[in-house]
Amino acid sequence: NVHTVRDVKGLRDAVAAFRAEGADIALVPTMGALHAGHMALIEAARRPGTKVIASIFVNPRQFGPNEDLARYPRREAADARLLAEHGCDLLWLPSVDVMYPDGFATNVSVRGVSDGFDGAARPGHFDGVATVVTKLFQQTGADVAYFGEKDYQQLAVIRRFVADLDLDIEIVGVPTQRDDDGLALSSRNIYLDEEQRAKAVALPRTLGVAARAIGRGADVADALAEARTSLIAAGFEIDYVALADAETLAEHPAADRPRRLLAAARMGSTRLIDNIAIEPN
Ligand code: PAJ
Repeated sequence: NVHTVRDVKGLRDAVAAFRAEGADIALVPTMGALHAGHMALIEAARRPGTKVIASIFVNPRQFGPNEDLARYPRREAADARLLAEHGCDLLWLPSVDVMYPDGFATNVSVRGVSDGFDGAARPGHFDGVATVVTKLFQQTGADVAYFGEKDYQQLAVIRRFVADLDLDIEIVGVPTQRDDDGLALSSRNIYLDEEQRAKAVALPRTLGVAARAIGRGADVADALAEARTSLIAAGFEIDYVALADAETLAEHPAADRPRRLLAAARMGSTRLIDNIAIEPN
């Protein structure tokens, strides 16, 4: 099974041993309930001369008061086996008390890129993400960290504070891994019943249709309105469907800039997010 450490001293000793072998350190932060999307990050991180650390920490600070912190899936034993199978070298598994000891008072907050979309729908969410990811970078001293494009705004927020705080770590984005029908893999997909799961495919399909239309030069407002209509018809309640600058996430991006189509919508009580690049053509 994968070697597991649960306190900062144990982590630092393990990292020092990797460094003594001359290895680089790659980090894959997760909240567990691991699936093929997470494994794509592990596979991307595996390189000759690199030790791969995965972290599993269900971070209370990034969940809102009415969100799914208590029922978020926890499957440590299965996760550890999966990580071992995929060649992960070390599992960092801190408790809440290890991550946030009594007296913890610091917050990392990123303006601009975290304000809209999921930041607006989930107040405080990206402060929680930025704070814990900053800690994970400092705890591991990693040279490189891997994040999924599935959580596109999260990736943009992380790139922003890494640049702003001069953190000496490379951030790599990995394309979204999908089920055969196109639904993005997510730890939250297990909340969907069979009928909801079947209807959920409308999210990636609708985004694909809208992204191709916008790429061909269709009117953006019309394409977004059509996308909203088809999501509602499929049984979704929409949080947002929006076109944004791929780097700053500012809305109404210029057509000659890299652009990203982003959406969040609820199927029953399950909130799903997805996004897709606009390819010029
Ligand atoms: P979690 O949702 O567990 O996701 C961990 C990493 O896996 C993130 O970088 C996420 O974007 C990536 N990921 C999830 N599903 C994916 C998919 N279908 N394809 C590709 N990558 C995928 O994101 C978090 O945890 C947390 O916010 C965290 C960064 C760990 C901070 O607490």
